[in-house]
Amino acid sequence: MKLNIRDQVEKYDGMILPLYEDGLATKVLSLPLDELQGSKKFEGKMGTTYKLTAVVESSLKEIVLLGLGKKDDLNFRKLLNGFADAYRLVKKQKTEKVVLHIENLEHQEILAKAATEAVLMADYSFDLKTKEKEDKEIELDMITSVDMKIINEAYVLAESNLVARDLVNQPANLMYPETLAEKVLELGEEKGFEVEIFELEAIEAMEMEAFLSVAKASDRDPRLIVMRYKGNPDSDEVLGYVGKGLTYDSGGLSIKPTTGMVTMKSDMGGAAAVIGAMTAIADMELKVNVTAVVAACENMISGNAYRPGDIIGSMGGKSIFIGNTDAEGRLTLIDAMHYIVTRENVNKVLDIATLTGAAIYCTGDAASAAISNNDDFFKAVNESFNKSGEQIWRMPIFDEYKELIKHEEADLTNTAGNPGTITAGLFIGEFTGDLPWTHIDIAGTAFSKKEKGILSKGGTGAAVKPLYYLAKNEEA
Ligand code: BES
Ligand code: MN
Ligand code: ZN
Repeated sequence: MKLNIRDQVEKYDGMILPLYEDGLATKVLSLPLDELQGSKKFEGKMGTTYKLTAVVESSLKEIVLLGLGKKDDLNFRKLLNGFADAYRLVKKQKTEKVVLHIENLEHQEILAKAATEAVLMADYSFDLKTKEKEDKEIELDMITSVDMKIINEAYVLAESNLVARDLVNQPANLMYPETLAEKVLELGEEKGFEVEIFELEAIEAMEMEAFLSVAKASDRDPRLIVMRYKGNPDSDEVLGYVGKGLTYDSGGLSIKPTTGMVTMKSDMGGAAAVIGAMTAIADMELKVNVTAVVAACENMISGNAYRPGDIIGSMGGKSIFIGNTDAEGRLTLIDAMHYIVTRENVNKVLDIATLTGAAIYCTGDAASAAISNNDDFFKAVNESFNKSGEQIWRMPIFDEYKELIKHEEADLTNTAGNPGTITAGLFIGEFTGDLPWTHIDIAGTAFSKKEKGILSKGGTGAAVKPLYYLAKNEEA
């Protein structure tokens, strides 16, 4: 799809027409919209769509009406999905040139922003089919007079969301630590952030025993990927992001069933989120400093695999009892966390991971789950999610839970039990020093079984936009 911003209409065969609930009676072109009044077929309710075919200006046009609800009740999440649904519907009619009318509507800025993000995201799909696509590229002309700055930011956000989807969607035989690191080097070069890659020997020299224990059964060597964006060189404040980068999670010796394993290329959704966010932050030239770290590896099985029952060390020095080799994410994350806290001078840190199946029980695919040790920091995280149209829910940290991660024979255990999402997060929290910290579990939100609204099947790019807004919020 090609998105154009125009101030007047050219020839077209499809149209998306957003309408407020209380604006249905207005005469638009020669459309018989007043016929809809009281018909219940289309009432303009937020996010609803209605398709009609009509002769306008003497040719047949495929028209999709999009309900915007009440003028003063706009909801960005619903707007995104509404524009996405409308776009999917008009595209299905094999239209070639679609016009999207925003110019005469109230709150044009938010509508133009939502529409831009939504159509770009809804247009995305992933496959590795060898036959060329036959479909002609669809053109979408958005008729609006909003400041191009708004459109540009929306464009960058959608593109960086799609960068993350692509990283997740690449199967694990193609996207492994080495190729992920190469991809990040390319993105850093293109967008303007620094990338440093630590290979096996360097990781060993830093004594990242927890990370290395997970990585060691794989024939593919791990990589520690460090990204640094310095948009405010005069300040020593650095925001830290850590993303889980399991390019594949077989479960290790505590092996997963095939049904659970088949989508485990998605276990680097946290890494994809921080990488995607870095591309947006650099592209928009935010006046902030952000450092992101990904400990990339595969959790595999071999004669050299770590075992249930092992007691291993970690870069931070603590010993860890391995109750289950499938609880590997937290092991890679603690070494990445210890590294970023002690070597990168961050003053606030957020980690994000497809960490626990339990998160799916807590909040499903509607929201990411979080814990935090700092109310102000979490408030900023929460606002960043809201702004992007994504949802997050903070779980409690009760004293009882802190006892669960302790072990008789080691400092910590990687299998603390229920509530699994919280205890997994608390395990990582042992390595954050005294910094304000938020942990986000995107196991339920990073991967979608079906296409729906702005989401395509597969990787969703969850949290890319929120992590961009969180960095933007740090601008002086
Ligand atoms: N990567 C998985 C979590 C996951 C499950 C993400 C389903 C997305 C969808 C993680 O490494 C894992 O296996 N966690 C275990 C932990 C348990 C063994 C303590 C889990 O949640 O079952
Ligand atoms: Mn696992
Ligand atoms: Zn995992």
